[in-house]
Amino acid sequence: MTRIVITGATGAIGTALALHYAAPGKHLTLHGRRESVLDDVANQCRERGAEVTVSGIDLTDDAALTPWLEALCEPSPPDLVIVNAGMNINIGEHGEGEAWDEASRLLAINLRVPMAMGNVLGKRMRAAGRGQLVFMSSLAAYHGLALTPSYSASKAGVKAYAEGLRGWLGPSGVGVTVVMPGYVSSKMCHEMPGPKPFLWQPERAAKRIAAGAARNSARVSFPFPLDFGCWWLAVLPASISQWLLAKLDYSPPAANVDNAERPEERRHD
Ligand SMILES: NC(=O)c1ccc[n+]([C@@H]2O[C@H](COP(=O)([O-])OP(=O)(O)OC[C@H]3O[C@@H](n4cnc5c(N)ncnc54)[C@H](OP(=O)(O)O)[C@@H]3O)[C@@H](O)[C@H]2O)c1
Repeated sequence: MTRIVITGATGAIGTALALHYAAPGKHLTLHGRRESVLDDVANQCRERGAEVTVSGIDLTDDAALTPWLEALCEPSPPDLVIVNAGMNINIGEHGEGEAWDEASRLLAINLRVPMAMGNVLGKRMRAAGRGQLVFMSSLAAYHGLALTPSYSASKAGVKAYAEGLRGWLGPSGVGVTVVMPGYVSSKMCHEMPGPKPFLWQPERAAKRIAAGAARNSARVSFPFPLDFGCWWLAVLPASISQWLLAKLDYSPPAANVDNAERPEERRHD
């Protein structure tokens, strides 16, 4: 039985990944916060022949996360863990800036949780001499985007962390893959401001991610034109990259004291 763990399984990419892997001979552990959505995804996976366990623990709480991960490693670590849960925020309609409480929550789920998971699972997989970890970064990791500075920072952090982990764990037979998607149709994606060129559907993204994980690719980045463009943003002098991003409409509106709204005054869902 192949054992696969996916966080963020209630989201667009996570659901597509779960359905991609769902088949006889697979045991899926699906994590998500929205119980009814998670149950629905789990049932669809069961209909495809997979065994499914669901979890809704608070990933950002170490006291809940660590024992959950340890339990997942009994009697041996899972074959594949896809660390996919994440969120995005932006500087607001008028460029007023990110609210710090939102930025803190983002850092917790986008960066601290992947590192906490890598910390526990990396050691367990290393001791077992097998396993595959997949971390969800973003093309935003190549160069910080003005509209989403915290998101860019979190995804750059995940990319660097996972690359380091790959170097540490590779000699012990453990694979680590960094995924850097461009725009993939999802709630998070459509809530983001700015243009969304070369938009992919989640099913296509899931197929590409699964193929990369199966090959233990160091990096799975797509779609090609956007990947190539963003890669250059990391390579070029930063001033040129900033100029290019502004030309491509990724720049914020200039401050306007009349319509500026303080981030703390913004309503939260
Ligand atoms: N879509 C894109 O264009 C794109 C591009 C690059 C990278 N990515 C990355 O791909 C991953 C999946 O995103 P998506 O596009 O599928 O977005 P999505 O549909 O909005 O799904 C996000 C998932 O993350 C979960 N999540 C968010 N905050 C959480 C928290 N604090 N604790 C536990 N779970 C939490 C959500 O759970 P709930 O459903 O319970 O809220 C949901 O399952 C993310 O890491 C994202 O950064 C996406």
